[in-house]
Amino acid sequence: MLNFDFYNPTRIVFGAGRIADLDKLVPADARVLILFGGESARKTGTLAEVRTALDGRKMFEFGGIEPNPSYETLMRAVAQVKQEQIDFLLAVGGGSVIDGTKFVAAAALFEGEASEILFKFGRNISRAMPFGTVLTLPATGSEMNDGGVVTLKAQGAKLPFLNQALFPVFSVLDPTKTYTLPQRQLANGVVDAFVHVMEQYLTYSVDGHVQDRFAEGLLLTLIEHGPNAISSTDYNARANLMWVATLALNGLIGAGVPQDWATHMIGHELTAKYDIDHARTLAAVLPAMLQVRREAKRSKLLQYAERIWNIREGSDDERIDAAIARTRSFFESLDVPTRLSAYELGTDAVTAILEQLKAHGMVAIGEHRDVTLEVSRQVLEASL
Ligand code: NZQ
Ligand code: ZN
Repeated sequence: MLNFDFYNPTRIVFGAGRIADLDKLVPADARVLILFGGESARKTGTLAEVRTALDGRKMFEFGGIEPNPSYETLMRAVAQVKQEQIDFLLAVGGGSVIDGTKFVAAAALFEGEASEILFKFGRNISRAMPFGTVLTLPATGSEMNDGGVVTLKAQGAKLPFLNQALFPVFSVLDPTKTYTLPQRQLANGVVDAFVHVMEQYLTYSVDGHVQDRFAEGLLLTLIEHGPNAISSTDYNARANLMWVATLALNGLIGAGVPQDWATHMIGHELTAKYDIDHARTLAAVLPAMLQVRREAKRSKLLQYAERIWNIREGSDDERIDAAIARTRSFFESLDVPTRLSAYELGTDAVTAILEQLKAHGMVAIGEHRDVTLEVSRQVLEASL
């Protein structure tokens, strides 16, 4: 196992009706800015529930954080924070609103041009405002981690940032808040969480047996219960989906093991360029990524084939092929396409995405830093 520090200060408040706990979680004298997305938080009544729980505090609102939040929008929130002397932020939404709130938390206290935070991937953040979250979409894990992704619209760049100052103070996870989600977003959530686990599990073995077994437990839970969580509003199905998505990216399974993230970096470029949902980019890239990098990932692919898909027959290569095919058909069974051609993208897109990867310095990615532009080209061609 590799050396590691594991630190996660986010308090999770889980269960139906727990939004009422905001009264205890947010300081009584706080000037709170509630940040949310389009209309869903208002339409579903969650915003009103949050306001009731915070009653007695000075409350302000910032709505309109778009999916794949933009720097341009978020800087308007930063201006409001300064103008209203806000001292606590509360994100109400999915990954986009939470990531956007993280950026606002850092940018409001940043000296200099805030876009530098993105160009330095968050390494230059030294402090951030305190913030909490009310999660309405189980998918990204942003509610219990210290990362985010923000798009600079002017540059067409979707860039990740990471800093220990960006853990939420608390996150309220009420599974009933997922009842209003369209099936497409629920399916996206299952796929995103699945790929988060794969980026930390399907690399090479460092004898991290605990991490492997945790990761396999999360994958099996998604395979066994994900489809039901999408099609029914059963409380326990939604509760399990919410918790699995949080655990998939809160640092636990990635501590002490190598991490890949090449699928995500290519996926971010596809979203920035073609506005494809985050999880849908991953579903198209991951099977091709595993195919192209099968030599470097061989022993973990065989472990994955046996322990996740119960594939025990055939040669090593046949079992690997079968495991990749099962991954693809799992995503397809959720109505999430696994080919870029589903978005009418062809060879022009390969060239365009490679140019973007180059422009953003993504020229040596993956667990061995050997996913060069040439390897990314092979992956993109295999994903058409
Ligand atoms: O904008 P509103 O009207 O609120 O609608 C949203 C949005 O259109 C809607 N929605 C959210 N909760 C709802 C709801 N609709 C009905 N009922 C509810 N309860 O869902 C739509 C999508 O929301 P969004 O927040 O964009 O989705 P998601 O949670 O999948 O977040 C995606 C973003 O997170 C980033 C992605 O790159 C993308 O920008 N990621 C963040 C990560 C992190 N911080 O660790 C890791 C991930 O890999 C990912 O990159
Ligand atoms: Zn993701």
